[in-house]
Amino acid sequence: MIPRDTVHDFPSAEAAYAHAAERIAAALHVPGSRRITLALSGGRSPIKLFELLRSDSQSLFKNIPWERVVVCWVDERFVPPDHPESNFGLARKWLLSSLPIPEEQIFPMPTDRPSPEQAAQDYEQTLGRLFASQNDPINSFPRFDLVLLGMGPDGHVASLFPGKPALDEREHWVTDVPEPGMEPNIPRITLTLPVLNHARSTVALVTGSKKQPAFQEARTDPRSTLPAALLAPQGSMAWVTCFSD
Ligand code: 6PG
Repeated sequence: MIPRDTVHDFPSAEAAYAHAAERIAAALHVPGSRRITLALSGGRSPIKLFELLRSDSQSLFKNIPWERVVVCWVDERFVPPDHPESNFGLARKWLLSSLPIPEEQIFPMPTDRPSPEQAAQDYEQTLGRLFASQNDPINSFPRFDLVLLGMGPDGHVASLFPGKPALDEREHWVTDVPEPGMEPNIPRITLTLPVLNHARSTVALVTGSKKQPAFQEARTDPRSTLPAALLAPQGSMAWVTCFSD
């Protein structure tokens, strides 16, 4: 169930986006010289957020050490990067193309593999190399500095859909979703719940009246098994919401 103190509700989408942007900036201002690991979701909500992130007027982001940021994805549709439904393509167009993040630090989920299952296995290997230095004996899951999430009207997060096997995966870091069961009904690749729950900081942006019923269930029903209700990151969690259209 979503704890009340993790919810930050706003009267307008603009105010919600601005607050989410402030939290993102704070999470990416990691002192020192180490890499900063970021995992991006897709869908349409991030577009306005990406515009804020890259906009010069937002002094919040001018000093983010982008050259230290490593970008991964929370999930991906199994389509080429130039496909309109590609989460990587969306981020490249609206965000990455205007930030000084070295190309070699950007790790899209590989959608050119023979199958989504193979792509998930390969991306898990990629993350294994990326997080190899994370000497965290307590658990073997990667700990992203910041995970950006959305939520669907059915309460899904990432590509973890209600009642689908991927939601129950507790060993692998990355898995495939052959049949999402909602539009776009394209096979997906997704980080698993244990990985999402190991993040240092998570910002979930949920806007629009259609999402309110699922969010309300996840927020108030202790027995809810919606993915949003099962999300419980060890680190800081902020649900940034606005349910007015
Ligand atoms: C995806 C996303 C997904 C998204 C929600 C909300 O690949 O679709 O990662 O989890 O965050 O579906 O999508 P909207 O922002 O389009 O409402």
